Amino acid sequence: MKATFKDIEHPMAHEDATPTVRPNEQHDLLRISTAGSVDDGKSTLIGRLLHECKSIYDDHYKSMINDSKKWNRDGMDYALLLDGLKAEREQGITIDVAYRFFSTPNRHFIVADTPGHEQYTRNMATGASTADLAIILVDASKGLLPQSRLHASIASLLGIKRAVVAVNKMDLVGYKQKYFRDIEQSFRSFAEKLNFTDVRFIPMSALKGDNVVKKSKAMPWYEGTALLPYLESLYIGSDRNLIDLRFPVQYVNRPTADFRGYCGTVESGVIRRGDAIMVLPSGKETKVKSLVTMDGELDYAYPHQAITVCLEDEIDISRGNILVHPGNVPKIDRQVEANVVWMSEEPLDITKKYLLRQNTNEVRAVVSNVKYQIDTNTLHRKESDTLQLNQVGQLSIECFKPLAYDAYEQNRKTGAFILIDPVTYNTVAAGMLLDKQNATSLFSDDGTQEPVANNIYRYNGAVTSSDRQGALGQKASCLWLTGLSGAGKSTVAYALEEELLRQHVHPYVLDGDNVRHGLNRDLGFSPEERRENIRRVAETARLMMDAGLVVICSFISPFKEDREMARKIIGDRFFEVHVDASLETCESRDPKGLYQKARNGEIANFTGVSAPYEAPSNPDLVLNNDRDATLDGAVSRLMDFLKQHKIQV
Ligand code: ADX
Repeated sequence: MKATFKDIEHPMAHEDATPTVRPNEQHDLLRISTAGSVDDGKSTLIGRLLHECKSIYDDHYKSMINDSKKWNRDGMDYALLLDGLKAEREQGITIDVAYRFFSTPNRHFIVADTPGHEQYTRNMATGASTADLAIILVDASKGLLPQSRLHASIASLLGIKRAVVAVNKMDLVGYKQKYFRDIEQSFRSFAEKLNFTDVRFIPMSALKGDNVVKKSKAMPWYEGTALLPYLESLYIGSDRNLIDLRFPVQYVNRPTADFRGYCGTVESGVIRRGDAIMVLPSGKETKVKSLVTMDGELDYAYPHQAITVCLEDEIDISRGNILVHPGNVPKIDRQVEANVVWMSEEPLDITKKYLLRQNTNEVRAVVSNVKYQIDTNTLHRKESDTLQLNQVGQLSIECFKPLAYDAYEQNRKTGAFILIDPVTYNTVAAGMLLDKQNATSLFSDDGTQEPVANNIYRYNGAVTSSDRQGALGQKASCLWLTGLSGAGKSTVAYALEEELLRQHVHPYVLDGDNVRHGLNRDLGFSPEERRENIRRVAETARLMMDAGLVVICSFISPFKEDREMARKIIGDRFFEVHVDASLETCESRDPKGLYQKARNGEIANFTGVSAPYEAPSNPDLVLNNDRDATLDGAVSRLMDFLKQHKIQV
């Protein structure tokens, strides 16, 4: 039974019309993305391709099977494709992309068929992210519509270099050349700013079969080929990256104590037994001992192959690490820039923390800046501080750990990522990393790193910290006050200092605004600089505690991870105090007028307004603005707390 074109609308209908493409019988594969406006005839076109190819395929199938030279037995990677879909489904993203398979004697094709309704950008992004070619459908009777422009913009943004503009429904305009040329011209002038290297224009009628599989006699003025022969002959071989080895570790396999293998898929490049290997982000080096697969050991492995890599040395490697050749390393940075397609009903929120997933790696990240939004109709840049569903824009993103990546232009596998909402675990954006000048990190210390200098030795005098503490009659301690700007941290800190002195305890206050005038005058308010701020302050507090003091630190310190770092540096006499006042309260007080300025857009990355604040989940003490409304009340609670923790000896 042959499927009718009407049947093709149903997701399962294509099955009957799809010739059997057998795994392990892959010859060349072309991945195509399609998207169009409602009613532009996309289903008809795909239906016709599937339908006619079944006929072609039936004719040739037998002779082809015998002619094994035509088959390159590389293995058709259905599994990968399905895995990709599964991962997206687990991400809670509603994808409406149907993948259709068809073949001719010369090539296999996968068409990502995305619907033309309004949620279409994210479907398109999903379907197009692995495509070699985009078919952009245009209805000849309607001309070039905004949706076709949007499709073309996203295809180009996703790194698709080749496009076919299928000017469909030529039968409705009497097959007249003028309609075709007008669309060709408007598309060309629009697409000048896009990154396509090859754009073909084909006039056709999918319904009547003109120029889909065979050249039409109805348009003698058209000199090019029909669509299918073009798709069959398109050369894409050079797209495969065999140079830059990138092997993201998906899983560490330790079935027995004497076997340790790193499982994953070679995303690009070639890995060989005996190769020197560098593990990122740690930078540790070793050699490949063996490459193991279900079918035995390999001498080398290519892109798309799923393998287990065993290494000569025992190195600490975990999921998300990436194996590369030492002479060919990607960029490593916490600050990245990217083009993204926003996919969530909830707009981009720069005060929120997201998870950035790149391959098998996941890091926490914040969007530090929306550089601009792109109007996909005109390709003009627009100023914006957020992105809404289906909008496209360029962002600066700060990761909480260094990210090993390539620009998407160079490597789609290590240059692509998604942003995930950590609470709902929904995918909120798809992104393409950009080549950034000066991509090395300014500050990459996480507080536990070894010194950069060699040949330095610690020297300990005869006097110990406990001698100093004993002489002062106190226990060195650190009270770490965290909270929003205007919560009252500094007021409380200095009042506490006064009270401690009165009671013959030796305190010292380290305060954000003050420290930023001297020690930290080179630091601003990006997450990375805030982290460095906290690291230096924690180190300073540690020295002061070594001197025997009770140190009161008053810093917004908005990130849990940074406060954890401080705790690690300082040790067990670190007490976290949340000076808890709501954003509304702090904003209504606005002692320095900074909230007002931040709301007016005069201060970037302002905590609570345009940068996140993460309240402590388990602080040692909470000073609540309502309960401890008076300064004296707050100070006496702190004094009680310190007495409980025996600061005087
Ligand atoms: S932290 O985030 O790195 O811990 P810190 O406590 O040192 O901040 O400094 C915060 C003080 O800097 C605020 O009280 C405020 O006076 C000032 N400030 C200036 N710009 C900002 C900003 N973008 N975000 C927060 N505080 C800012």
